[in-house]
Amino acid sequence: MVPKVSTLGGYIFEYQKSVSNPTGFWANVADSYYWRKKWQNILDWDFRRGYMRWFEGAKLNITENIFERQLFYRANQTAIIWEPNDPNEACRTMTYGELFEQVNRFASVLSGMGIKKGDRVAIYMPMVPELVVAMLACARIGAVHSVVFAGFSAQSLSERLIDAGARMLITSDGGYRGNKTIPIKAITDEAMNACRCVTTAIVLKRTGEDVAMQEGRDYWWHELMQKEFPPVQAAEMDAEDPLFILYTSGSTGKPKGLVHTTGGYMVYTGYTFRNVFQYGDGDIYFCSADIGWITGHSYLVYGPMLNGAKVVMFEGIPTWPDAGRYWEIIDKHQVNQFYTAPTAIRSLMALGLEWVENKHLGSLKVLGTVGEPINEAAWHWYHDHIGKNKCPIVDTWWQTETGGIMISPMAGITPTKPGYATMPLMGVQPVIVDQEGRQLLGNSVEGNLCIGYPWPGMARTIWGDHDRFIKTYFSAYPGYYFTGDGVKRDEDGYYRILGRVDDVINVSGHRLGTAEIENAINEHPLVDESAVVGFPHPIKGQGIFAFVVCTHFSTGGEEGIKNSVRMAVSNMIGPFAKPDKILIVKGLPKTRSGKIMRRILLKIAEGKTSDFGDTTTLLDPDIVNEIVQLAGQLTD
Ligand code: PRX
Repeated sequence: MVPKVSTLGGYIFEYQKSVSNPTGFWANVADSYYWRKKWQNILDWDFRRGYMRWFEGAKLNITENIFERQLFYRANQTAIIWEPNDPNEACRTMTYGELFEQVNRFASVLSGMGIKKGDRVAIYMPMVPELVVAMLACARIGAVHSVVFAGFSAQSLSERLIDAGARMLITSDGGYRGNKTIPIKAITDEAMNACRCVTTAIVLKRTGEDVAMQEGRDYWWHELMQKEFPPVQAAEMDAEDPLFILYTSGSTGKPKGLVHTTGGYMVYTGYTFRNVFQYGDGDIYFCSADIGWITGHSYLVYGPMLNGAKVVMFEGIPTWPDAGRYWEIIDKHQVNQFYTAPTAIRSLMALGLEWVENKHLGSLKVLGTVGEPINEAAWHWYHDHIGKNKCPIVDTWWQTETGGIMISPMAGITPTKPGYATMPLMGVQPVIVDQEGRQLLGNSVEGNLCIGYPWPGMARTIWGDHDRFIKTYFSAYPGYYFTGDGVKRDEDGYYRILGRVDDVINVSGHRLGTAEIENAINEHPLVDESAVVGFPHPIKGQGIFAFVVCTHFSTGGEEGIKNSVRMAVSNMIGPFAKPDKILIVKGLPKTRSGKIMRRILLKIAEGKTSDFGDTTTLLDPDIVNEIVQLAGQLTD
């Protein structure tokens, strides 16, 4: 069993141990897993080169740690409780034994279709158990999975397929989200037509709608699973062999494929899951995140399953058929730990208490949040109305890059404070720096958040672009990993995350690069240029404000352009990236050297009409007044 700390004293003791002797600490945690061959060296690293290797020389297969290590006593225990989009459709449950059987079978299919260790397999699927089967089958044979959130457009998908050099795509005919049916196969067809690397697609039947199947390329999941392929052995992986690639947005236009490796990721996600949520054997744990994001990877699939957890997986959305759906699921399955995003809490809170009051929610022991800062009102609502004042809230700060939770309370152990991610987890050494890179020591300080020492779960590189990895994370403050977040350490030494300090915005917990959205907008033939900034949004956390320079109009006028700008973003990225506000302007505030002064746009987007600071370097200061006036007239 993965070690578990259960008291505050225990946390303090283990934390001290983990920072004074990190390698000894992690070796001890790693001992609770099954390795085919143990490591020769625990850690080798040099942040300046973005070089980190954990458990060097060790051999393992992560799925042997989910299955073989635990199967003796867990074969008949539930692994997945699947709640479909439509509450009238039957739930499905799968035991660890059944999941193992499916994973082995699908691993044989993959191998029979020519997939080998190291090949990249993309997955673009709705939230169904087969998505977990597909990921674990890849891991079983050493193929590198790259799950793409099924809300991304065909263009975003094809960009990712090409970047990863994916040979195969695992997908479905369609998917359900609330009262909508998503034409998943049609989207994948468009994406596959735009790239040459994918030669095979495996298609799960979910909605049963008619889809075009291309002879020699597309195969039905259920047909392949009925065929007899030779059984395959679990591949022997080096601790540093890639387990998966997951794309995320950065401050430049192109998404980054973060690479997570096998050994360190396993040790870290298994350990943090058990400790943060204080998961106890038999507990029922519900993570509402989509597997297309890192939360789904680390805390719906790998972390929980490495602990033999019973995991509730939900296909739908929190507001369908009504705003009580999450709470109904919690009662129905007697959920003990619930992990969701602040944006979901805010949107449900806005819909009123009537959806909560008729629910019992007595099974809950721990509540969690992730993905964005949680405002105090939402924290209290969650605490009082969902947790009934008895469940600790774990506000977990981490990132796609960190692989697992970094700063967070441990449920019921660390005293919490609304809005605070509280304390670093074991082995995590936060460092706060000022703009010049000077370390800010002591309490009551605010600056940029860096991490001063490697942890096993951290990403090792950006797929195909190690230089970008170094530049993005290890150059701003040499010797440290730079997170891109601002942070405050208060008088008690508690950490409060203040949000991104780079050009990344967080919309409903979805991370988006402003440059990425601008690129999409600029594709519009009538748009000269654009600038996108985030603005405070009561439900989404941040909304997207697009300043669009447009000097020619076609039929439809301004409204026509705005609609087609929204369409362009939806087609190029996905519907979740559509701007909330679009302001058509004649020009942008630029310095004489042509740089857009974003801080002015940020203030305008926040609703400010004056106090823009020093504007003397602007090429045309009048433009600011013009934009302010237009912004005042904006109605949407
Ligand atoms: O700005 C931080 C915010 O989400 C960013 C990471 O986004 P992503 O890689 O998509 O991963 C999200 C799920 C782990 C961070 O840089 N963020 C994440 N968790 C929190 C948070 N901001 C405040 N509080 C949090 N608990």
